[in-house]
Amino acid sequence: MAFSPTFFHDFSVTSPDVLAVIFAISAYAAWRVYSLVSFVYRTPLRILPGPPAASLVYGNLKEIQEVEGTFLPDRWFTKYGKNYVDHEFFLLRDIWSEAASKAGGSVRVNVSRDLSMATLDIIGMAGFNYDFHTLDGGEKTNELNAAFRQLFANLRPVSLFGYLSAWFPILKMLPNDRLKTVNSSAATIRRIGGKLVADQKASVLQAAAEKHHGVERKDLQGRDLLTLLIKANMATDIPEDQRLSDADVIGQIPTFLLAGHETTSTATTWALYVFCKYPKVQQKLREEFLSVDTETPTMEELNALPYLDLVVHELLRLYPPVTMLVREAKKDDMIPLNEPVIDKYGKVHHEIPIAKGNKVVIPILQSHRSKEIWGEDVLEFKPERWDQPPESISAMPGVWGHLLTFNGGPRACIGYRFSLVELKALLFALVRSFEFEFAVPAEDICFKTAPLQRPSLRSAPKEGFQLPLLVKPYKAA
Ligand code: HEM
Repeated sequence: MAFSPTFFHDFSVTSPDVLAVIFAISAYAAWRVYSLVSFVYRTPLRILPGPPAASLVYGNLKEIQEVEGTFLPDRWFTKYGKNYVDHEFFLLRDIWSEAASKAGGSVRVNVSRDLSMATLDIIGMAGFNYDFHTLDGGEKTNELNAAFRQLFANLRPVSLFGYLSAWFPILKMLPNDRLKTVNSSAATIRRIGGKLVADQKASVLQAAAEKHHGVERKDLQGRDLLTLLIKANMATDIPEDQRLSDADVIGQIPTFLLAGHETTSTATTWALYVFCKYPKVQQKLREEFLSVDTETPTMEELNALPYLDLVVHELLRLYPPVTMLVREAKKDDMIPLNEPVIDKYGKVHHEIPIAKGNKVVIPILQSHRSKEIWGEDVLEFKPERWDQPPESISAMPGVWGHLLTFNGGPRACIGYRFSLVELKALLFALVRSFEFEFAVPAEDICFKTAPLQRPSLRSAPKEGFQLPLLVKPYKAA
């Protein structure tokens, strides 16, 4: 393309500031690119063997997220070395029962979608005493529900824009439909969250006024998380500097909804998948459930069911919803190794040097599917292996079950006890009442990690996550 002299003339005479801005942006961009490239080329981790980067921009990130079946590093490790039960739980059951009876006995259900809706309703009530009405069509009628659904739908795994804006934050200021939707959903959540907090505070104050004393910690008997947080925050016997601001309390709402909703529904979805693949496990578990003489067992009664406990351990080993975590080094350090590693140049290392800013993947799925730890039958779903688990797992630093499902250490999942009871209660309500079979050939079902590991159909990749099952009310022979 040829530039006319007029273009140059007009540009230089009327827009010197524009030139200065272009120069500043170019210099900033060049400096950021230089920092990125020099960071990548100077990292001490470059001495380690590993797969070639599939993309200049993403490295191997897309490969990891798009791979189907098992987690990609399985291959890389082989090649490069290995370095109370509430009514909410019966909402879903009643909906499936009605659908099955209308369909004449058995109904095809996308259990992945329905479980996701059920767990949002459950965490809404348990967390905030808030009914999202998701299972009864709340998405259309409930403003907060719609805001969350929009937010979840816009949490895409890897995008060029997301990647570039991490390096060039100035890009976030550009008009962008996705960001607009996220900001508008966040504003709705803040507004309704603020009202929830204000209403709860008012009722706590009213209760304290009726008792003619200030709010004290011994008054903290609310059942949902939000009420507990607010009461704790308002207690006169808690020092001012240990209290959360209202904004911090409101900030907990999306955290708990995001962390505690799709994770548990994904685990329950994989449980139903496993029961279709292993019908004997399904029937044995149902028999255990039917031996309980109540439809509404307590948390203690659920935790006392031995086979259920083995099944849940094996489920969260073989199908952990979170398959990997990433940590970033805050300073230069050395990572000690269980076994030495040989670098690209043949040198043996007993620890790996790591530079500030380097990211390290914690390969949860890989460690749960390691033949070396679990044996040759590692990919088989065998609840009985938990009667005598391998000794080597005692070194696994997980917060639960010597597994990394809920991670370990100071940032481990704080909702894991809640989640385990929720999962057990859902399985109790569903497996006691229904029989499950695949509605499509088992080979059509594949695994997608984005970022949770969820089921999808090879024949319908564009339809998103789904697990279609035939659901039939159980009738004892
Ligand atoms: C099967 C279900 C669940 C799985 C697999 C799971 C897994 C995890 C993992 C791996 C982490 C660590 C994330 C990291 O270190 O970057 C985490 C953190 C967290 N989880 Fe869960 N989670 C589950 C259910 C829940 C539930 C039901 C809740 C809430 C009631 C919850 C609340 C949280 C919170 C608030 C954090 C952040 C903790 C922190 O950063 O200090 N999770 N979860």
